[in-house]
Amino acid sequence: MRTLSGIQPSGKLHLGNYFGSIRPNLELATKAEQSFFFIADLHAMTTVNDPAVLREARSDIILDYLACGFDPEASVLFYQSHVPEHAELLWILSTVCPMGLLERAVSYKDKVQKGIAASVGLFTYPVLMAADILLYAPTVVPVGQDQKQHIEIARDLAMKFNHSFGETFTVPDPLIREDSAVVPGTDGQKMSKSYGNTIPLFGDEKETLKTIMGIVTDSKGVEEPKDPESCTVFKLHKLFLSAGEAKKLAEKYKAGGLGYGDAKKMLLETTMDYFAAMRKKRAELEKKPAYIKEVIAEGAKKASIVAGGTMQRVRKAVGLDV
Ligand code: ADP
Ligand code: TRP
Repeated sequence: MRTLSGIQPSGKLHLGNYFGSIRPNLELATKAEQSFFFIADLHAMTTVNDPAVLREARSDIILDYLACGFDPEASVLFYQSHVPEHAELLWILSTVCPMGLLERAVSYKDKVQKGIAASVGLFTYPVLMAADILLYAPTVVPVGQDQKQHIEIARDLAMKFNHSFGETFTVPDPLIREDSAVVPGTDGQKMSKSYGNTIPLFGDEKETLKTIMGIVTDSKGVEEPKDPESCTVFKLHKLFLSAGEAKKLAEKYKAGGLGYGDAKKMLLETTMDYFAAMRKKRAELEKKPAYIKEVIAEGAKKASIVAGGTMQRVRKAVGLDV
């Protein structure tokens, strides 16, 4: 198994990113023969247009990943923009990509509806994503449900290219994490940067306390029995717990006597404990800029070898080799 995954540096990571993407990716990486993980900074430019914001998000995210347990020796970790073959393949694929395929992409329409500028880059976002994938010939691409259509576009483009220019690309399979339930935000909707309802992964205790205390609940009194499955505090707490621990907590809810204030304090404690070691590691990494630089350079070097090999075959296939 060869896996590849990418994440956009477009804001502070939150619990939804951790439980929905980071943790499952780390687990999968331990099972894969080879795994590639990159920071999609070129994609982020479709929504982030302040250089200071992009710069900060780009350097934050690498610290976050290393702190969460990403092993740069075992996997290839790199910035998309450090491997120029991504942009080159984007162009070549865009010459075989029918307009209609992109016109049907729902994420473009969604983003424009949310007020994001309708740039050519936003429109061709899925073609860059196809290039990201096809350069490394992964057998599986683990993504959330929202990215399923993008993987289908990558598959279509691989097949179209192979049909026109001869077998060049491996057609990738998505691995959709159906089981990783949608992590709710403080208002009960899907946790997302764009909804302003996130609990940051590495926020300090004061900030985390404030967001957790702000979780919306019903107005049942302390003594009243409560339904755990419809409570956002419980749903979040459950992510950290074993099945047995979750069952015990659910019983406390149903029995009555546990107020939402106390339930929130328990969640705060669990959150702070769970991320304590990672937080410590992150603070240590922050003091080692030379090491981080080395990890980034090494990742770019390893990724370039694979991407460079693919591009040689692509250039030959299309007649750009002489
Ligand atoms: P956001 O919605 O905050 O902009 P992204 O779209 O950048 O988050 O998501 C990055 C990764 O984290 C994706 O793989 C996505 O599926 C996952 N993810 C984000 N929010 C959640 C959530 N609330 N529940 C589960 N997974 C999530
Ligand atoms: N579009 C993905 C997201 O927003 C990030 C991404 C870019 C990606 N290129 C990729 C994911 C290639 C998997 C493979 O989550």
